[in-house]
Amino acid sequence: MNRDVFAERRRRLSEACPDGVCVFFGTRETLRNGDVHNPYKPDSDVWYLTGMAEPDTVLVIRPDGPKATLFVRPRDKVRETWTGRRLGPEGVVRELGVDAAYPIGDLSKEFPKLLEGRRKIYFSAGRDADWDRIVFAQIAATRAQGRRLGVWPTDVCDVAPTLGEIRLRKSALELDLMRKAAAVTAEGHLAAMRTIRPGMSETQVQAVVEYVFRVRGSERLGYPSIVGAGRNATILHYVENNQPVADGDLVLVDAGCEFGGYTADITRTFPANGTWSPAQRALYDVVLDAQRRAISLCRPGVPFTAPHEEAVRALTEGLIRLGLLSGERDALIASGAYQRFYMHRTSHWLGLDVHDVGAYVDGDAQRPLVAGAVLTVEPGLYVSEDDDTVDPRWRGIGIRIEDDVLVTDGEPEILTSGVPKDPDAVAAECAKRLPLPAW
Ligand code: GLY
Ligand code: MN
Ligand code: MN
Repeated sequence: MNRDVFAERRRRLSEACPDGVCVFFGTRETLRNGDVHNPYKPDSDVWYLTGMAEPDTVLVIRPDGPKATLFVRPRDKVRETWTGRRLGPEGVVRELGVDAAYPIGDLSKEFPKLLEGRRKIYFSAGRDADWDRIVFAQIAATRAQGRRLGVWPTDVCDVAPTLGEIRLRKSALELDLMRKAAAVTAEGHLAAMRTIRPGMSETQVQAVVEYVFRVRGSERLGYPSIVGAGRNATILHYVENNQPVADGDLVLVDAGCEFGGYTADITRTFPANGTWSPAQRALYDVVLDAQRRAISLCRPGVPFTAPHEEAVRALTEGLIRLGLLSGERDALIASGAYQRFYMHRTSHWLGLDVHDVGAYVDGDAQRPLVAGAVLTVEPGLYVSEDDDTVDPRWRGIGIRIEDDVLVTDGEPEILTSGVPKDPDAVAAECAKRLPLPAW
């Protein structure tokens, strides 16, 4: 992404916070075990505002000069030989176009100067004890000076809601990346359908999906893949992915890859042997109806909760029709009886983070959908394997269908339509039994 894009984003943030200094701490690397780190995902806020993708970064933005200052890891020949290249302070000014930069070790020396003359700090206090300690120590230092000058930071405001609203509305450039992530993610799911057969393992299904992501150029997964066969599909965040796929199982795959930092988030559920059992198909049809009805409501001005509420109505109607619930729809919703089979929400924002920033409510008021926002629509039904209140044929079936939907001024745009969800089309793909690569 071009450095002007980042400068424009900083300008918009400064416009929204004209009277203060914005402070962002980049995500730290975390240890996996020993001296090996977990894969690093650049901090989304810092990346969005600067393009800086290295750990141990602090970003300070003032509405007046120097407008954007980065504190970064210094160049270090030995460390770079072990753990990779660093831009260093000169590099971030030269390559990323920020106005000033210092080694991260100079933070306590330089930070108070950036707070001078400002009454407000926009910062997400309470997220990280170390960050809080650093910022509050700086405020104390600046106060000592400021009492002579008459101005020091007296207000700490959370920057997250402001930047969240900016990040929520995707630009054409961002949408190109999201479409790319969606298309490749769809291709990975399609490959899983085309190669599935009983006797494979969940691990192998995961490998097929992630293989496609990688060979198509995705830099990383948007989140750990979920591949659950049979009763494992009823565990919402099942990530062990290590059991065999049996004849007659449904396989639920929830996986998404990133492009340029933006992730897709798709779930498909499909029959391992290429044929739906009547019970599987009946539940699938209910979930698909709920999903389509929910997507049709993804329009500007509609409350964020409306697609969820419509999905709940559709699922509850279906559960009554199939005999899994008995009673009157609205009463079953009001009492929460449907939650035995549908225990999660239907949507979340999507972008640089799989559960992206942006508010879901506006104080006590409903938060409306806006054009340019992308949200998932992901209803499901999950019947516990030991639910002896329902007919045995339903037990152990888990189904979720998830697409990524762009809100536009016209029809909702489904970014993830590259992988089928029509049950006959899905079964036809699963019946292909294409060979796994043999090498
Ligand atoms: N894959 C995480 C989610 O669907 O929310
Ligand atoms: Mn999701
Ligand atoms: Mn998902």
